[in-house]
Amino acid sequence: MKILLFGKYGQLGWELERTLACLGPVVAIDYPDVDFKEPEALPRIIQNNDPDLIVNAVAYTDVDKAESEPEIARAINATSVGVVAEVACKGKIPFIHYSTDFIFNGTKGAAYTEKDTPDPINVYGRTKLEGELVIQQVGGAYLILRTSWVYSLRKGGFVNKVLEWSRDQKSIRIVDDQVGSPTWARLLAQATAQIVSKNTIDPFEYLSEVAGIYHVAGSGAASRFEWAKMILNLESGRTGQMTQELQPAKSAEFPSPAERPSYSALDCKKIADSLGVVLPPWYESLRLALNN
Ligand SMILES: NC(=O)c1ccc[n+]([C@@H]2O[C@H](COP(=O)([O-])OP(=O)(O)OC[C@H]3O[C@@H](n4cnc5c(N)ncnc54)[C@H](OP(=O)(O)O)[C@@H]3O)[C@@H](O)[C@H]2O)c1
Repeated sequence: MKILLFGKYGQLGWELERTLACLGPVVAIDYPDVDFKEPEALPRIIQNNDPDLIVNAVAYTDVDKAESEPEIARAINATSVGVVAEVACKGKIPFIHYSTDFIFNGTKGAAYTEKDTPDPINVYGRTKLEGELVIQQVGGAYLILRTSWVYSLRKGGFVNKVLEWSRDQKSIRIVDDQVGSPTWARLLAQATAQIVSKNTIDPFEYLSEVAGIYHVAGSGAASRFEWAKMILNLESGRTGQMTQELQPAKSAEFPSPAERPSYSALDCKKIADSLGVVLPPWYESLRLALNN
């Protein structure tokens, strides 16, 4: 099975290239070899590679910057995704794509299921939802894996930021009014490979049978404050930490261009029941990620 992976330098894409390698040759590309701002170039790239499976980890993920660049965010998160979905559907190529908890408005006060109605409150969420809708309209053998608060220790992201702050700040203030499901990119990649591995002989047939939207994220929920507290507690050695005090704060104290949902944890029962995929509790994954 030949796999075409878009977005190999992203948090998730980097893990996917390594995890999917056990299932067959992976052709992994990223910007500038593929540019999702130029949807018209995508059919040729797909045809030239003639894949048996397409996995898309490309996304415009800068939630604040998206507010001032909605057209670029839309091209990457929706228009290009639609083009890939069309080529995949016409060519009978199964297509795996990722979406976000930010398609919800965050007011439910409990973990969101796949049956809850999306209502994004920022440009990033709106463009990701448009991407979901266009894939569903096109149809075919698609999986939309909605995830939440993805982190990797390789570069950027919340976990690295907290560790960096802990190196030179005695006191850190972190918001406790945003709740989500922290998800280690490596385990999300492994969950993807686990799904694909169920039928490597005819992935189109298998993914046609199970096509749809699934929530897949670290089990449970945490506020950013609880997440940060756990990061500092679990960092192995803790030798470089100079932080003595972690204080809860409110989002309103840190104005940002994009509004964020206050509670966007995901209920992942559907993927557990139907595909047998269960990610460990978010703090267990974090322990593994931090080598504790
Ligand atoms: N990060 C989260 O907290 C989170 C939460 C929920 C869902 N998700 C979803 O999970 C998936 C993976 O996210 P991630 O955290 O791995 O994102 P990421 O680290 O930002 O990776 C996205 C990748 O897409 C590439 N990219 C951006 N613009 C491009 C373009 N015009 N053409 C080609 N490639 C381009 C990026 O390259 P550059 O780095 O060079 O821009 C990067 O390699 C996405 O669908 C995202 O929406 C993420």
